[in-house]
Order: sequence, then structure tokens, then C-alpha cells
Amino acid sequence: MIRSGKMLVAALREAKGAKALNAGQLKTHLAKFPDAARQAGDRFLATLDASAPKQAAHLDALLADFAKLTTDVRRGQALFNGPKAACATCHRIGYVGGNVGPELTKIGDVRSERDLLESVVYPSASFVRNFEPTTVTLKDGDQVNGIVKRETPDELVIVTGAGPEQHLRRSEVTEARPGTLSIMPGGFDEQLSRQELADLLYFVKTVRVAVSRGADVRTTSMVQNANPASHLTAKIKGQQGPIHPRQSKRSKKRACR
Ligand code: HEC
Repeated sequence: MIRSGKMLVAALREAKGAKALNAGQLKTHLAKFPDAARQAGDRFLATLDASAPKQAAHLDALLADFAKLTTDVRRGQALFNGPKAACATCHRIGYVGGNVGPELTKIGDVRSERDLLESVVYPSASFVRNFEPTTVTLKDGDQVNGIVKRETPDELVIVTGAGPEQHLRRSEVTEARPGTLSIMPGGFDEQLSRQELADLLYFVKTVRVAVSRGADVRTTSMVQNANPASHLTAKIKGQQGPIHPRQSKRSKKRACR
């Protein structure tokens, strides 16, 4: 339960995902709190700002590691659908998967490997349009962070993760404002080995080639249709416009200063 700016900052320091936060959004957010909280927030933000170049360096190091590995799209697919990474609980590819997050079938056409990697390691660095989190404060002080799916005169329907939607009665809501933390869990680079992460990204990056060739994504046979010669860094032809425009975090961050 977070009742004050100070508690928010304290909670953020503890939070595992805090290094994946968007400093610009957090700053706007903290501006509403009293001075003491803001000072604590500013000190915390300084550590976040300092971590932006570190994050970039970490992504570069991961990509360099991947380049040394031989990736396997079947292992990537198994991870995507399996319990360890559990991407499919929230994301649909082809006909399978959840709809908590954006569909990823064609994502390889519009996102570089680096962008995909950033999404998986630092999900709160930027948000896909229409999937931005909202932080709702309730009368009892509780806060709920999630994606507002529907609004009616009586309630907000919000999805906070892979679980069922929550129905919040409007009469209980005191505030709803843009959130800073993606509901997508981050830090997959710590939960998965380099090999697993490389396989997973290779699958996400190249899956459309297999799907567009009529492969059935419900079976593992689709991967035999994928081009075995293509590498994680291979460019896929026939680029289209963005399917999920994202806010750019770096530019946003600058705008907030
Ligand atoms: C609890 C649900 C959930 C899980 C589990 C999850 N994601 Fe996400 N993902 C989201 C949501 C919601 C977004 C959009 C908001 C954002 O950008 O953070 C997203 C965004 C993304 C994006 C960015 C898409 C774009 O259009 O740029 C990628 C790529 C992605 N996820 C890949 C994955 C992969 C790979 C896994 C498994 C390792 C995974 N996700 C697990 C919910 C989830």
C-alpha cells in the first residue's frame, strides 16, 4: 500500500523492476508530492538517470553475447509458450496466446533485435500505444497499476497481469493517472540464460516468416518452414509501418526535464 511520495520512493528502491523505470514519467509523477518526498525522489531519479547509459551498455553486451551463440527457433518457441518465460500467457502469436499484451506475430517486421531485447529486459523503458499502464488510487489508499480495458459510468475494468481483470467501482476511485511501471514483468535476462534469451528473441524476430508461409503455429512443425540460414540479426524483407507505435522514452524523458 502506497500512501505518500516518500513511501513510493522507498518502495521503488526495494523494487526489483525499479532499474527498468522511466525517469521522465516518474518525475512528473513525483512533482505532485510534497517537498520532502520530492527531494527523496530526486535523489532516486539521479540513480535512474545514471542507469540509462548502463542499461544501454547492458543491452549491447547481451547482443554481443548472442552473436557468439547458435540460435534455435524451436527452443525459442518452446520458451515463448512454456511456463518458464510464459510470454504466451499475455501475447498472441498466430492463433495462440493471451491478449493482455500486444499481438507479436509481425513484431519482427517493425522492431530491431535491440528494441525487442529492450522490451524484454526493461519493459518500462517505453510503452506500446494502447497498452500504457494507469495507476489507480482507491479510497482506502490502495493502488492498482494496470491497463484500463473498459470504462463504464460505474466502473473501471483494469488488467494488472496475466490473471483475471479487476472491476473497480468508480465510487471507490479517488485518482487515476498514467503509470510508470509496465505490467509486463522485466528482468528476463536474469531469469533466462543467454542461450535461452537469444533463442527466444530469434523466435520472436523471425516468427512471421514461418506464419506467412502458412505454418501452423499451434505445432512445432512451423519452425521447419522458417529459414534456417537466417540469423537473429537478419533483416526480414517487406517492411511495413509500425503496428504498435511506441512512445519514445528518451525523447519523452528530455521533454520532462
Ligand atoms: C503479464 C503479461 C506479460 C508477459 C508475461 C509478457 N509480456 Fe510482453 N508485454 C506485455 C504488455 C502489457 C506490453 C505492452 C506494454 C509495454 O510496452 O510495456 C508488452 C510488450 C512487449 C513487447 C513490445 C511490443 C511492441 O509492440 O513493441 C515485446 C517485444 C514483448 N512484450 C515480448 C514479450 C516476451 C518475449 C515475453 C516472454 C519473455 C513477454 N513479453 C511476457 C505483457 C506481458
